[in-house]
Amino acid sequence: MNLREQVDLDNLPKHIAVIMDGNGRWAKQRGGLRIFGHKSAITAVRETVEAAAELGVDYLTLYAFSTENWSRPAGEVTALMQLLVSSIRKETSTLNKNNIRLLTIGDTASLPSSCQKELREAMDITKNNTRMTLVLALSYSGRWDITQAVKKMALEVEQGNLTAGEIEESTIAQYLATAGMPDPELLIRTSGEQRISNFLLWQMAYTELYITDLLWPDFRKEHLYKAILAYQSRERRFGKTSEQLIK
Ligand code: IPE
Ligand code: IPE
Ligand code: MG
Repeated sequence: MNLREQVDLDNLPKHIAVIMDGNGRWAKQRGGLRIFGHKSAITAVRETVEAAAELGVDYLTLYAFSTENWSRPAGEVTALMQLLVSSIRKETSTLNKNNIRLLTIGDTASLPSSCQKELREAMDITKNNTRMTLVLALSYSGRWDITQAVKKMALEVEQGNLTAGEIEESTIAQYLATAGMPDPELLIRTSGEQRISNFLLWQMAYTELYITDLLWPDFRKEHLYKAILAYQSRERRFGKTSEQLIK
């Protein structure tokens, strides 16, 4: 049986989050500039989106640019933004054909206006698509998300629409950028780094972590299947004992 056939479609993660890391190292290994790595990563994105949609995953969230990534050399930031614009322009019709909806999370108001425009158009074109939601995390960080949620809640309290006593975990979830999405069951990080890098901090409270040494530009469909198979072999206890879990 090939890897894809081994995946249990009745036990798929509804939401997979990916920290796409290692583009710079991939380029360096080939004697190229970092941006060569970013450009070469497009194939990995395409394959991952396709494979996830084909399997029947509901949400795929890709960490494309973090709040902290703004501190990179200006040339790299500019090149990444240009790559974002050109990729979205190129890929939107394919997303649409495949019935995939595009969303973003993050401080997108801080992106160059050309990016914002391209994203708005792509989101508008794909807004009624139902097969899978592709979420791009752009100028995103978990702490940014929690901070903006607290600010919005504080405003509601000031305006008398919310009381402190009414705030529950589910209330907080509604104010996060991921409102309405299930928490990711599986996080994939490439390039071997064993950290969260300020990604979905609240949402990943019980996410299964899958870290591979593979560099992101080398990631293909079979690697997604491998990650899902690893996820499916885990026992998710949520604080209970093994014996308490009814199979
Ligand atoms: C991930 O690859 C892409 C972004 C963070 C935008 P990196 O650019 O971080 O590549 P490495 O980690 O330096 O190899
Ligand atoms: C995380 O990768 C952010 C993205 C993949 C967009 P980084 O390369 O920025 O993470 P650190 O700095 O190694 O933690
Ligand atoms: Mg990196």
